Amino acid sequence: MGSASLNHETFRELTGVLLDPDSTPGDTFTAANRLHVLLDEATRISAADDAKEPTHLPTGTALSPVDAGRCLLDLARTRAYLLGLTAAIEDLRTRCGDRPVHVLYAGCGPFATLALPLTTRFAPDTLRFTLLDVHAASIQSVQRLVDQLELAPYVQHMVQADAAAWTAPANPVVDILLVETMQRALTNEPQVAVTRNLLRQLSDDTVLVPARITLRACLANPSAEVDPADPRRDRVELGTLFELSAATARAADAFKPTTVTLPRAPAAGEHLVIATAVEVHGNHALGDYDSGITFPHIVTDTPPLEAGIRLAFTYDQNLPGLRVDRAHTA
Ligand SMILES: C[S@@+](CC[C@H](N)C(=O)[O-])C[C@H]1O[C@@H](n2cnc3c(N)ncnc32)[C@H](O)[C@@H]1O
Repeated sequence: MGSASLNHETFRELTGVLLDPDSTPGDTFTAANRLHVLLDEATRISAADDAKEPTHLPTGTALSPVDAGRCLLDLARTRAYLLGLTAAIEDLRTRCGDRPVHVLYAGCGPFATLALPLTTRFAPDTLRFTLLDVHAASIQSVQRLVDQLELAPYVQHMVQADAAAWTAPANPVVDILLVETMQRALTNEPQVAVTRNLLRQLSDDTVLVPARITLRACLANPSAEVDPADPRRDRVELGTLFELSAATARAADAFKPTTVTLPRAPAAGEHLVIATAVEVHGNHALGDYDSGITFPHIVTDTPPLEAGIRLAFTYDQNLPGLRVDRAHTA
């Protein structure tokens, strides 16, 4: 499979595997790794001096361009987003009539991994991207790919800016806001601040991708969960803590604390865990262990976890992440 350098044919062939819902895990693995090598060679991103360090922003840390490029290899994630975004674009084609569907992609990284593959499925008069990243090295890298693969007709704008503070131009209208600046449990990266800043500037019918990110608390024994036969793998579900959707991104009171009661102290090997679920679009979704972004997150900074304690979880978008405190009695 593939040839020595990145050209239209290899790009179409390899992205075709990622975009085919029937591709086997083995074929997907081979195609994604081959594509990553070719994209890296074409952009020379891993050799760039300014591509290895993350950037600390007021609302979280932006992954370095080299690490952002490696996100392509988080296979279930990449496929769920590519297939979900394809479905969202198809849903909007009728609404948009003769004009292209315009996708604002915040956090595009050095390869615009969730955007450029879709140029093999849609003609430029039906699809446009605005590509945004805080790292200059990533924007330069995407520009190289756009030039090499002759994809300029698909690009509305390329912007280097902090998406949590950037002001979107009023025109052209954004139809889909795609944000992939997240890690598990919505920690570290500024997904919430970016989504809120951008969506609140856009019209009410803008489609948000991913449509919903849900954080739930539970007591879980992560080492038992890897064995389907282990009787200690049953979780104690404690409830939903936070949800990021178009509705909550627009809400003024999105950061109210949520209180849960611990029915018992954790057993040996058990932890207070935040589970992350991502609904990308339609039935394209990611759950526990599917991806790095939905891996269970063990919470360590808590009050003592005694039976009956009431815990208040508050999402803090400047942390970013959930804070856990002892709830004040009502
Ligand atoms: C997890 S990587 C994902 C890369 C790519 N979207 C993908 O899915 O493969 C997150 C990207 O978002 C960018 N990013 C994070 N916070 C940002 C912000 N506030 N403004 C602009 N870009 C940001 C990082 O520089 C990085 O390229």
